Amino acid sequence: MNTELTLPLSRRYLVHFNPKRIPHAFTDVLVIGGGIAGMRAALSVDRKLETTILTKGRVEVSNSWKAQGGIAGVFDPSDHVSNHARDTIAAGKGLCDVKTVEEITEAAPDVVRELIALGANFDEVGGTLALTQEGGHSHRRIIHALGDATGREIMRAMIERVKTHTDCQIWEETFTIDLLTLNGACVGALVWNPHHGKTFIWAKQTILATGGAGRLYRETTNPEIATGDGHSIAFRAGAVLRDMEMMQFHPTVLYIAGGSRHLISEAVRGEGAHLVDANGYRFMQDYDSAGELAPRDVVSRAITAQMDKTRHSSVYLDLRHLDRSLVADRFPNIAEVCRKFGLDLAVDLIPVRPGAHYMIGGVVIDHEGRTSLPGLWAAGEVTSSGLHGANRLASNSLLEGLYHGRAAGAAASHEAHNIADHFCAMPIRDDGMDKSDEQTDLDLTDVRNSLMSLMWRQAGIRRDREGLTDALKQVEFWDRYVSGQEFDNVDGWSLQNMLLVARLMLTSALEREESRGVHYRTDFPDAIDQHARHINVNIDREYPIRPDNTP
Ligand code: SIN
Repeated sequence: MNTELTLPLSRRYLVHFNPKRIPHAFTDVLVIGGGIAGMRAALSVDRKLETTILTKGRVEVSNSWKAQGGIAGVFDPSDHVSNHARDTIAAGKGLCDVKTVEEITEAAPDVVRELIALGANFDEVGGTLALTQEGGHSHRRIIHALGDATGREIMRAMIERVKTHTDCQIWEETFTIDLLTLNGACVGALVWNPHHGKTFIWAKQTILATGGAGRLYRETTNPEIATGDGHSIAFRAGAVLRDMEMMQFHPTVLYIAGGSRHLISEAVRGEGAHLVDANGYRFMQDYDSAGELAPRDVVSRAITAQMDKTRHSSVYLDLRHLDRSLVADRFPNIAEVCRKFGLDLAVDLIPVRPGAHYMIGGVVIDHEGRTSLPGLWAAGEVTSSGLHGANRLASNSLLEGLYHGRAAGAAASHEAHNIADHFCAMPIRDDGMDKSDEQTDLDLTDVRNSLMSLMWRQAGIRRDREGLTDALKQVEFWDRYVSGQEFDNVDGWSLQNMLLVARLMLTSALEREESRGVHYRTDFPDAIDQHARHINVNIDREYPIRPDNTP
C-alpha cells in the first residue's frame, strides 16, 4: 500500500500574467530540458511535427553533459541481462518496479546502438566496446567515452543531430516559470528569457526532462541549474510525485576548499582505487564485504562514519598502486582537474567526501513516460519510473534517460497528431499585480545558502525526526515570505522552486520512518519490510490556492 501525502500550495502560478500583453508561441511538442532525456525525446518526435526544446542555461550545461562513468548495459557474452536486472533490483532495496527494470535492462544494448548510430563514439579495446566496473554491478558492464567524459561525447552527438533537424528549435537560457493547464490538461508553458521576456508557449504535448535538484544541498556534484524546477512546476500543475525523500549521495566528490565539488567517478574505484582515511587506513572492508565497490549508499555512509571517527573533513582516494598509464588513459579529465590544484591523480592522495548527486524521487511515469497529468510526459532524473527504487545503481541513469526519452518522444508525437491546430483557448484575465503582496527586500543568495546548509546538515546522508522536523519548520518559515513575493528574475523563481522541493523532500523523509537505500534514518535504522511502499505527494485540494490566473 502506498502512502498518499498532500501538501498545501499557496499559489498555482509563480507570477501573474496577462495573456493580452505577452507574446504567444506555438509548437507541437514542447520539450523542457536539454540533457540526455530531453534531447533523446526531441530526436524521437515524429519529424512531421514541430518541436521546441527549452534549456535553462546554455545547451552544454546539464548533469548529462557532466556525466563521467558511463552507461550500464550487457555487452559481454559472459554477462546476462538478468544479472543487470538483479543488481538493479538488489540496489533498489524493495522499491524497484520489476517490470520496468526488466524492460529497461533488456533494452540497454539497443538504446546504446542507437546512440552509436547517432554519432556517439565509445571507448573500445581491440575493436569491441571497453567495459568498466562500478559499485553494485556484478560484472564489468559500463561503457564509457573519452575516458571519463562520457556525457560530453553523448551530448555532443545528440545536440549536433538535433541541430540538423529543421523542425526542432532550441531556446537556450529560457526559464520555464510554470506549466500551463487548461481543463485539467497541460497545454504548454509560461517561460521567460532575456530576449522575449515572458512568453506563452502553447504545445499540443509537453515533455518534462529538467533533471535533478542537487543544488538544494551545500555539497553537490550538480551544476547551478539543478534546482528542482521540473519537480516544482509539475507539482504546481497537479502531477503526482513520489519518493521525494530519496536523494542519492555520491561517495567521492573532490573536497578542496574553494574548489568546485568535482565528481571523482565511481569508475576510479572500479579500476581498483582504494579509499583510505586520514590515518591511511583502508576502511571499506569494515563496513561491507564488497569493499570500495559496495553500493553508493553504503559507501557514502561508511565515509561519513569514518570522517567522524578520524575527526577529519574528508577521506582519500588512493591510486598509487595502479599503473600510471592506466590512470592517465582512463581518467584524463579528472587528472586535469586535480592537476589544477597541484595534485597528481596517480601519485597523491585525493581528498573526497560525499555530495548530493542524483534525485531518485520525482514525477510518477508509466513505461511510455506518461504522467498523471494529461498532455504532460516526463523522462530522466525528474521522474520516478520504478527503475531505481530506493538507490540508483551506478550508470543506470543515462540509460533511463535514453529509454524514457525515446518512449516519451514517440508517445507524445502520437497524441499530438490527434490534436487540431489552434487548440488553445486561455481564458483571458487581467489580474495585474496583487496589491496585497508585500514586497520585502530580500538577499536571495543568503536564503539559498542557508537552505543548502540546512538540507546538508538535517536532510543529508543521515537524518532523524528532530532534525527533519526542525528543518521543515525553518523551510516553511522562509517559504512564507519568499513565496509570498512576486519575482521577475530566474534567481527568485529558482529559489521559490527550491523551497517547494525542500518541503516535499522533508515531509516525505519524515513520513518514511525506516531506513531504505539512500534514505537513512538514525532513529529508524532498519528497513521495515511491510513498509516497502512508495510515498506519493500531491496538492492538498482542500487548501485554498490563490486563484491567480487559474484557468
Ligand atoms: C560516476 O561516474 O561515478 C557517476 C555515474 C553515475 O552517477 O551513474
